[in-house]
Amino acid sequence: LASIEVDVSALQPGMSLTVKWRGKPVFIRNRTDKEVEEAKGVPMAELKDPLSRNANLAADATASDVDRSAGKGKENWIVMIGSCTHLGCVPLGQAGEYGGWFCPCHGSVYDTAGRIRKGPAPENLHIPNYAFVTDSVIKIG
Ligand code: FES
Repeated sequence: LASIEVDVSALQPGMSLTVKWRGKPVFIRNRTDKEVEEAKGVPMAELKDPLSRNANLAADATASDVDRSAGKGKENWIVMIGSCTHLGCVPLGQAGEYGGWFCPCHGSVYDTAGRIRKGPAPENLHIPNYAFVTDSVIKIG
């Protein structure tokens, strides 16, 4: 299937869902306010990969928290391809020292916005094309 629709109405803040799209896991997370605040508090200069890697935005969009999220008004939502940008392992959620994702293969650590902070991965977790088609349904692809 080229695109899928996912009902996210059951996801309270702090809950995640992994769906499969084009053979890859896609992480959908309703982030807590704390997770959003932590990601917003990170100076851009500290980021290893300064780009948003968000297929919904221009290629040169920066990796600010809002541009990693579903956008203004939906900043608690983050949707990412669950494939480590090092060699493609599936990172574990809510793990690692930044409270985001941790790749057990070679130790890449991503923050609560899925941005690479430590380890061998070169890029932030990629964000696929997606959109909210209603308040509780996301269309991916
Ligand atoms: Fe994730 Fe190597 S594949 S750190």
